Parts: sequence; structure tokens; C-alpha cells
Amino acid sequence: MSVLVLSGIKFSYPGSKRQVLDGVDLCIEPGEAVMVSGPSGGGKTTLCLVAATIIPTRVSGDFSGMAELMGQGTRKLGPSGASECIGYVMQEPEFAMIMPTVEDEIAFGLENRGLEPAEVAGAVSGVIDRLGMGELAGRDPRRLSAGELRLVAIASAIVHKPRLVILDEALSGLDDDKRALVLAELSLMKQGGAAFLIAEHAGTGRQVPPWLDRRCLLQGGRLAQEVCA
Ligand SMILES: Nc1ncnc2c1ncn2[C@@H]1O[C@H](COP(=O)(O)OP(=O)(O)OP(=O)(O)O)[C@@H](O)[C@H]1O
Ligand SMILES: [Mg+2]
Repeated sequence: MSVLVLSGIKFSYPGSKRQVLDGVDLCIEPGEAVMVSGPSGGGKTTLCLVAATIIPTRVSGDFSGMAELMGQGTRKLGPSGASECIGYVMQEPEFAMIMPTVEDEIAFGLENRGLEPAEVAGAVSGVIDRLGMGELAGRDPRRLSAGELRLVAIASAIVHKPRLVILDEALSGLDDDKRALVLAELSLMKQGGAAFLIAEHAGTGRQVPPWLDRRCLLQGGRLAQEVCA
């Protein structure tokens, strides 16, 4: 079963006639990593919001087309139904931080799923170790640098081992050493069958993970497939 199927997706924001997405088709299979690049304002974040079910359930506007996550319609799933199978790193992660410490922030989603405290602690300390974040664990997420914040957002998004990881400009702004740790961790998840939707500005070649399978260009509301070299 495909992880994500988007078919004929059209969307315009409320009060705007511009079709930000104008007939987008995208299918992502288990273990597949797809990058969507394109110009600023091209609709990458909007596409991530569709994949994350936030459009059409939380952001209104003119939406049509078929969107399914793990075989289920996103309109029916909504963000809470989808939270089990997706991990979403937003382009501006500072708005997503609500807990007093980094450790609590990463644990938050797991605790909400009703996991035992020992399981939560094990998963959180595991991801903190693997991403080399030990010195951040007790810090206040609102007092971190942009790169540190992004790392916390990535850890929070992957700690529950989602089937689809959505990274909206999430690989930019990380130190090279942290970036290498993140890419290694994501690569292991990919080998375990996780799929990836990676939005990045066009031309940021440095941000391309070596394990990318496909690259698409989002421009003028349309997605054009490119084959990776
Ligand atoms: N909440 C909103 N209300 C109205 N228009 C919006 C809203 N969010 C985005 N847009 C518009 O939709 C278009 C696509 O924006 P989007 O953020 O999806 O592009 P992007 O490719 O992610 O850009 P960037 O590379 O700058 O992150 C832009 O013209 C933007 O101004
Ligand atoms: Mg964006």
C-alpha cells in the first residue's frame, strides 16, 4: 500500500483566486524518499500541509482532489488521526514548541499516545543520544538557536517512528555534524520502510540527502517529476 497518494489536488487559500496547487499528482511508496523543490512561493509548504492533512481539515480554502495517507482519506483522518503515521517538521518549528524543556517537548507526543513512562523515557533518550542532543535535553526550547530548534523539531517528529516523515526546509540550517547524524538516522528509518517528503528551495544542492530516490519540481501549481542522477 502506498504511504501517500495525492491525485488531482487543487487548492487556493481563502480570499485568493490563485490556484497554489493546480492538479498535483504524487504517490510515495514505503521506503521511498521524494524531494519537492521549487521557487519561493511555489507551494512547497502548501503541499506539505496537504500531506499532513492540515489542508483541508484545519486550513480552509478551495480544495479538491483525492488525498490518502496509508489508504485512508486525509479529510476523514485529520491531524490527530494522522499523527500516528506521520512526523511533520514545519518550516517554522518555533511555533510548534509548547513544553518547558527539550526532553518534555520530544516526549509530548508519545505521552499523548498513552505509552508507559518507561517506554517514553527510553524512546526520548534514544533519539537524543542518536542525534547528539544530550546538552540540549534540559534546555527551554524557546531559548535555542534556529539550528538547535530544528533539531528538536526533527527529534519530536521521528521519535514515534512514523511511516511518513515530512521535512519542510528542515535539513537547512543544521551544522554539518548534526546534519550527518540526522541523515544517518533518517536513512535507518528509510531502510525500515519509512517514506519521506522533503521540501527544499530549488538550488540548495547541499541539502540533498544521498539516499534520495526522486526529485520533483513544483512550479506554477504543477509538479514535474525529475529522475535523480
Ligand atoms: N495562509 C495563507 N493565506 C493566503 N495565502 C497563502 C497562505 N500561505 C501561503 N500563501 C500563498 O501561497 C503561495 C504558496 O506558498 P507556500 O508557502 O506554499 O510556498 P513555498 O514554496 O513553501 O515558499 P517558500 O520557499 O518561501 O517556503 C504563496 O503565494 C503564498 O503567499
Ligand atoms: Mg515553504
